[in-house]
Amino acid sequence: MLSTKHVFLIGFMGSGKTTIGSLLSKATNRPFVDLDNKIEIEQGKTVSELFAAMGENQFRELERKALLNSAKGSSCIISTGGGAPCFFNNMEVMKEMGITIYLKASANDLATRLKDSATTRPLLKGKGPSDLPTYIESMLSHREPFYLMAEYVVGTDGLTDMAVLQRCLDIVSGTK
Ligand code: S3P
Repeated sequence: MLSTKHVFLIGFMGSGKTTIGSLLSKATNRPFVDLDNKIEIEQGKTVSELFAAMGENQFRELERKALLNSAKGSSCIISTGGGAPCFFNNMEVMKEMGITIYLKASANDLATRLKDSATTRPLLKGKGPSDLPTYIESMLSHREPFYLMAEYVVGTDGLTDMAVLQRCLDIVSGTK
């Protein structure tokens, strides 16, 4: 029996939230909401353009609003931006509104996955492959306490997307 709650996927940039969210949406036949994509459509600008135009603080306000609006309808799968859990009381809000799953990847794996993301992710602008591991480790040490407030943690290192999907499905099905 599938849980009827919303499902929030959280985790660092590059942890697979959008990929797994989309797969989970298909597998559970629930609508998929990607918060960054929702903001981009509403604002008519990419996240990078928004950061450049309004700065991070105002982006966090938009993200907060998008989060609160995302969960108004029937049960859906929601993937959040990597910073969303770490601002305001967003983590508490998500936990009240649904199931929270932290897709936990190691700094090493994240550095590999994010090596070509400097142009699409504003926080990685100007960071070369040699800066990434240290930057990610330092960001993770600040952010992980927020991520670890999630109800469930799924470690992704060494797993295929299908294996991660299956773990999420097990959680949503209440078998784990
Ligand atoms: C951010 C992560 C991005 C996006 C923005 C800020 C962050 O989303 O929301 O660039 O603070 O970690 P992804 O986690 O989908 O890359």
